[in-house]
Amino acid sequence: LGHSIHYLDSTDSTQKVAHKLSQEGCPEGTIVIAEEQKNGRGRLTRHWYSPKYTGVWMSIVLRPNLSPQKAPQFTLIAAIAVVQAIEELTNVLPEIKWPNDILINGKKVTGILTELQADVDKIDSIIIGIGINVNQQLSDFPDELQSIATSLAIESGRKITRAKLIQCILMKIEKYYHVYLEKGFAPLKILWESYAISIGKEIIARTVTGEIAGRAIGITNEGILKIEDDAGIIHEIYSADIEIKK
Ligand code: BTN
Repeated sequence: LGHSIHYLDSTDSTQKVAHKLSQEGCPEGTIVIAEEQKNGRGRLTRHWYSPKYTGVWMSIVLRPNLSPQKAPQFTLIAAIAVVQAIEELTNVLPEIKWPNDILINGKKVTGILTELQADVDKIDSIIIGIGINVNQQLSDFPDELQSIATSLAIESGRKITRAKLIQCILMKIEKYYHVYLEKGFAPLKILWESYAISIGKEIIARTVTGEIAGRAIGITNEGILKIEDDAGIIHEIYSADIEIKK
C-alpha cells in the first residue's frame, strides 16, 4: 500500500478523488490524503467534519478479485487496523461499533466509509475512506458534535503525530489484507468481535425499512450483523444505525 500517494492540501473529499483515480485505472494501494476536506462525506449521505491539520482524512484504493458481496468485510478489516494503530500510538484501546464507528469512552473518534466500483459479480475497486479526529480540542468541534465526538488528543492527553498514525494504519491494513487473501475472513472475524462493543448487548437497529430490536449475537462471515429478537428469530442486518440500550 502507498506506493502511489496523492497528498492534497485541500479538497472536497478524498473519496471523490479516489473514485476518479480508480476510474482512470490507478494501481491497487493508491492512497489519497488531504489536510482538509471541504465536503467530507459520511455514511448515508451525512457530512463529515474535516478541518485543516487536525485529523487524518484519507482514502485507500484496493482491487481484490472478489464478488461485491464481500465489500462490507473491508470496513471491518480497516476498523481492526485503525483500532490497533490507535492503541499502539496512544495506549488507549478504542471499541468498534458495527459497522463503521470507532469509539473511545462512547464518543466517536473515527468513521469508515467503504464504497465500491463493481459489476454484478466482480469488484473493480474498493475505496476505503477513513476519517480520524486526531488533534482537535473539544472546543474545536461544532456544538452539535461536542457531546458525540472526540479526538485522540482529548482522550490520550497528548498531541499525536498524524504521519506516524497514517503509517501505522497502512502497515496494518496491508498485513490484514494479506491475511484475508490467504486465509479468508474467519481469523479477522474473531479479531473484530474481540474489539466490538455491540456484540452480546441489547440493541435497536434502525434500517431503511424499519426498526429491529434484540440482542446482537455476532457477525456473519460476510460481516453482516446478526440480531436475535425476543421470539428467538435471527435477523441479518446489512446496513443500519445501531443504538445500544443502556
Ligand atoms: C461515517 O462515519 O459516516 C464515515 C466517515 C468517513 C469519513 C472519511 S474522511 C476520508 C474519506 N473522505 C470522505 O469524504 N469521507 C471519508
